Amino acid sequence: MIVAGGPLLIAIDGPAASGKGTLARLIAAHYDLPHLDTGLTYRAVAQAMLAAGLDLDNAGAALAAAEAIDLAALDRSALSAHAVGEAASRVAVHPAVRRILVEKQRGFAAQPGGSVLDGRDIGTVVCPDAPVKFYVTASPEVRARRRHDEILHNGGTAQFDTILADVIRRDARDMGRADSPLRPAADAHLLDTSAMTIEAAFRAARSIIDQARV
Ligand code: DC
Repeated sequence: MIVAGGPLLIAIDGPAASGKGTLARLIAAHYDLPHLDTGLTYRAVAQAMLAAGLDLDNAGAALAAAEAIDLAALDRSALSAHAVGEAASRVAVHPAVRRILVEKQRGFAAQPGGSVLDGRDIGTVVCPDAPVKFYVTASPEVRARRRHDEILHNGGTAQFDTILADVIRRDARDMGRADSPLRPAADAHLLDTSAMTIEAAFRAARSIIDQARV
């Protein structure tokens, strides 16, 4: 429950292409809250390493890249490539990288009026005390279809089977890592968007948020 006048902190987690990012943006706009897509912080680390020709398994280099990340300078369009997401999932296994990025993410979350954060470990690790948590999911096939259509829509080329294999591999890495694996917080509201439009998911989320406010 959110105390009247208290911060409206909303934690949203889920696997790649589940719809969590779109939902987070809609919620942030509706409640006029600042929003952080924490995936961009891992993507920025990955991209800096790729640009410098560094090995993604090099934990020391990844830590240095994480320390240099400025949340105010994250550029979604420059970080959106499929390959950067895959590389982000690899640098995200390093505990030292997670420690630095989680610290920055908590700094963002602590805004007096509240905020919306989306990622993989927001409800479980970054903001375990968030009064409202969502876990957004969809079947791997539905998520792969969305990714595939999005790439084609943007003028790219992609094989559905390759994208599906990527989605399954990314899930396995994000859910199987030792530090902060992707999983729903015990008190998260589950939203399965496999057969639900984003508008319906947004309506369901709004009703949960509005009920949590006193
Ligand atoms: O949400 P995304 O696809 O932009 O995230 C890219 C990768 O970053 C994801 O596969 C795992 C990692 N990530 C994470 O480990 N923890 C988060 N809170 C957000 C993203």
